[in-house]
Amino acid sequence: MTTGPLRDGPGPLGGLAAASTVAVDGASPRQAVAVFGIVSETDMHALVGGLHRLLQAAHCDPLNVGRLVTAASELGYNILRYAGRGQITVRIGVLGGRRVCELVAEDHGPGIADLALALQDNFSTGSGLGLGLPGVRRLMDTFDIASQPGRGTRVTVRRWL
Ligand SMILES: Nc1ncnc2c1ncn2[C@@H]1O[C@H](COP(=O)(O)OP(=O)(O)OP(=O)(O)O)[C@@H](O)[C@H]1O
Ligand SMILES: [Mg+2]
Repeated sequence: MTTGPLRDGPGPLGGLAAASTVAVDGASPRQAVAVFGIVSETDMHALVGGLHRLLQAAHCDPLNVGRLVTAASELGYNILRYAGRGQITVRIGVLGGRRVCELVAEDHGPGIADLALALQDNFSTGSGLGLGLPGVRRLMDTFDIASQPGRGTRVTVRRWL
């Protein structure tokens, strides 16, 4: 986990884009990228359905599809509930020679004052169970969160495929 100020700029995404230009079989696209805007419940359906289709097209195994769709859903609902609007960027590509799916959930909402607290099981400032962020952290291979009160929150997670 990385905590601290929300970074500006491309962050870890640039690394993924660069690595994924390395061709493996030359037949399939090297990278799939999709940006899902999140403003309403309807956008959540588009996110879940769209991510599912992207992962199936990438021949992702069902367990990882489930993990990633669950993670995207938790992060998307957090955006809706706490920030009101934001976006989730999905990248499926190759990083360091390994296939990976990366989700970046970003918003310019109120931010999270105490990240360590927000990552504890059962901590919620709303009416939730407080299991979203810690659950996502357990489901993914890497988890990075950056937030700044008044500026927003960015959660970056990866799962090797
Ligand atoms: N994008 C965000 N912007 C601002 N605060 C957030 C954001 N995401 C999470 N939080 C804060 O972190 C807390 C913990 O989030 P988490 O997803 O673990 O639980 P929850 O959303 O409260 O409940 P659950 O996800 O179990 O329904 C939230 O209650 C909220 O205070
Ligand atoms: Mg939540």
